[in-house]
Amino acid sequence: MKLLVLLLGLSTIVNAQKSALLKDAVKFPLGASVNPRLMTENEAYRNIAKNELTGMTAENHMKMMLIHPATDRFDFVKGDEIVAFAAATGKRMHGHTLVWHNQVPQWMKDFQGDQKAWEELLKNHIQTVVSHYKGKIVGWDVVNESFLDDGSLRPTLWSEHIPDYIAKSFQWAHEADPDAILFYNDYGQDGKPKKMKAILDLVAELKRRGIPIHGLGLQMHINVDSKRNELQEVLDKSVATGLKIHLSELDIAVNPKNNPDFVYEEKAAKAQSELFNYIFKSYAEIPAKQQYGITFWNISDKDSWLRGYFKRPKEYPLLFDENYSKKPAYTELTKSLNNLN
Ligand code: G3I
Repeated sequence: MKLLVLLLGLSTIVNAQKSALLKDAVKFPLGASVNPRLMTENEAYRNIAKNELTGMTAENHMKMMLIHPATDRFDFVKGDEIVAFAAATGKRMHGHTLVWHNQVPQWMKDFQGDQKAWEELLKNHIQTVVSHYKGKIVGWDVVNESFLDDGSLRPTLWSEHIPDYIAKSFQWAHEADPDAILFYNDYGQDGKPKKMKAILDLVAELKRRGIPIHGLGLQMHINVDSKRNELQEVLDKSVATGLKIHLSELDIAVNPKNNPDFVYEEKAAKAQSELFNYIFKSYAEIPAKQQYGITFWNISDKDSWLRGYFKRPKEYPLLFDENYSKKPAYTELTKSLNNLN
């Protein structure tokens, strides 16, 4: 009896000592993408970035359009600010993204040249950016969103002008920083088996050819109606490649159909909270050596791309609310992960 009382007492002490911070409840890096303007202007935003995260990604400022605005000009100012903050506060910095069909500067769209000239352009872009951040950025999304839902190669500037551009991009990035962890990053594989297969085939082909690829980024822009079995299947198949897995842009939309009268009440909040728990628990179960980390796509509901980009003001996809307070889902998630440990 005395022993039981003692054990109960001990477990209460241990639980009380468990941190209330989500970052302490996980054994892998926990990141968010950030916006440098908010990092400077908004103290609450900056404090969350500082205290709640162990990893960081630039939401936009390392993309071609912003980092390479003119043929002979790279603009590293904002990216450097983020990297300096990450270094000063001890966070793992992830790079996003070297090759994408979106946010491409006009000068690239207007570029004229033969295949060799296009290859020079892309190689120079990749190697200048990767070299600039060598030793500061641990991993890169080398190629982003190359496949359509039907599994075919997305027609882009890159696929049009550079045959085999995916493999070449990985090779060029590796030459510039042989220590960098190189990812292929994409969204919406759940419920889209052809897209998933195309990605797995790509991994198999790159491996067969000895092209350096080390990780898969699963963006995880999901919503409360996303099916768990489909998400689990994507995770399982990705893990089976043996590569590192990054849940690279996590957010869970509660109003995906953009209902203007939507009210974020208990039912939606609970469904969202349960799905966050599911995602984190599933990820916690994959082999530790494949856990590159989980990254949220920005910090508070107010800052989410879903509000700006989709003009969806009544969207609440993250774990901090508009006042930068923790939502109940944050606390629930931390508690349930602490119970796992
Ligand atoms: O900064 C300008 C501002 O000066 C201008 O007034 C305003 C008018 O539209 O635009 C602002 O730029 C916007 C930029 O976000 C910064 O907020 C762009 O229009 C807008 O297109 C851009 O959206 C970004 C989107 O990628 C572009 O496709 C989102 O912030 C960013 O979250 C989003 O991120 C992507 C990932 O990189 C890849 N995976 C999907 C993810 C979500 O789309």
